[in-house]
Amino acid sequence: MDKLVVHGGATLRGAINISGSKNASLPILAATLLTGEDCIIRRVPDVSDTNYMIQILSALGADVERSSGTVRATCADVSDQAPYELVRRMRASICVMGPLLARKGRCVVSLPGGCVIGDRPVDLHLRGLEALGAKIEFEGGNITLTAKDGLRGAEIDLRGTHGPTVLGTDNVMMAATLAEGITIIESAAAEPEVLDLANFLNSMGAKITGAGTRRIVIEGVKELHGVEHTVIPDRIEAGTFMAAAALAGDGVTLRRVCREHLKAITAAIEQSGHRIDFNEAGDVCTVHRNEMTQGVNLVTAPYPGYPTDMQAQMTALLATTPGISVIKDTIFPQRFMHCAELKRMGADIRVDNGTAVVHGVAQLSAAPVMASDLRASAALVLAALKAKGSTEISRLYHIDRGYELIDEKLLMLGAHVERVKDR
Ligand code: EPU
Repeated sequence: MDKLVVHGGATLRGAINISGSKNASLPILAATLLTGEDCIIRRVPDVSDTNYMIQILSALGADVERSSGTVRATCADVSDQAPYELVRRMRASICVMGPLLARKGRCVVSLPGGCVIGDRPVDLHLRGLEALGAKIEFEGGNITLTAKDGLRGAEIDLRGTHGPTVLGTDNVMMAATLAEGITIIESAAAEPEVLDLANFLNSMGAKITGAGTRRIVIEGVKELHGVEHTVIPDRIEAGTFMAAAALAGDGVTLRRVCREHLKAITAAIEQSGHRIDFNEAGDVCTVHRNEMTQGVNLVTAPYPGYPTDMQAQMTALLATTPGISVIKDTIFPQRFMHCAELKRMGADIRVDNGTAVVHGVAQLSAAPVMASDLRASAALVLAALKAKGSTEISRLYHIDRGYELIDEKLLMLGAHVERVKDR
């Protein structure tokens, strides 16, 4: 197991490229199961989550190759059973369910287990697929969905107690592309990653309108075709580096970003006192750190609100921002594992009932800390950049799930980091 040692205090400067979106790539890779023809997907980040998805596709019988960011997948003849050993490693593997069901009329997928950021049920995915005509059975930890006579379009409301579901919307949208008739998804997730998937599916020949809004309409088609697609930039990776630059930077430039997708994150960082300038095209930004900063109040919300996937990193930034900040996570109220570790570094944070109250301190100090999930580990790296001394972050595999070349990118910006093998 690797560790990251971060020697705090370096000033970040210079420019890096932001990778393609992990959370757009995962369902897009799964969507290749909808056709037997060749699909070519560019800017797929080389992170362990996309590798798991590629391994799942291969295990299902697909012919998949990856070389320098481009994945070619041909799912000519695929099985309907996703292997437990691979599926259990990544919750997002649930998004093979919709495409397999639509293509094969049957699929068997393991029920995802609990997760450190919260309960994460799949009831809404199943509600949607059931409405399309799937019969659902649970046995031995597996979910079996069958639709012997094919799927039929339906009107489905996907709102859950914590709002819309991203991968649930993806699953139902993918299944509905090959259903007979029209499907209407109300209370759909409007995240840019859902829109990117819809654009991918439409280039394959699907008829989807309204993606990116709360109401998606899908007119089923008989078959889909091979396609070439370039994945959108990773707004969470961009946001993470924006927060790093606000914490410890002096003019950090991020290329290959999308201004539109970063509005809520930009607003939060600017509200704390820093400045972010975009070029006219909105695909390059420079973060100007300010010394005169203040606490902010943040509430996570579905897109276009402030993303839960940027909650931990912002908490790290606010840990050394003067004043009091209040951060509420309405989507994953238990997603505060990073706070206990930040406190070991001297942060003053109280977490209660899905809300963190942060009193900004003047300085954090290095301590051995443990990553608990992907975004929590990013938060620890950010805090360590600013802390006095050398912080050792263990269980680095969490960060490798979703940040491509994180240590190389930090080194390019002048951070003092080293990856070491844990004994
Ligand atoms: N929910 C239900 N029932 C369901 C599905 C979800 O109650 O059937 C609840 C969840 O428990 C949560 C809320 O609905 O409270 C939203 O969850 P959602 O389904 O939208 O999460 P997801 O689709 O499983 C994706 C991202 C997550 C991100 C969430 C929320 C991918 C691969 N994952 O997960 O990303 O936090 O949307 O935006 O797209 C990450 O990248 O670090 C990450 C965890």
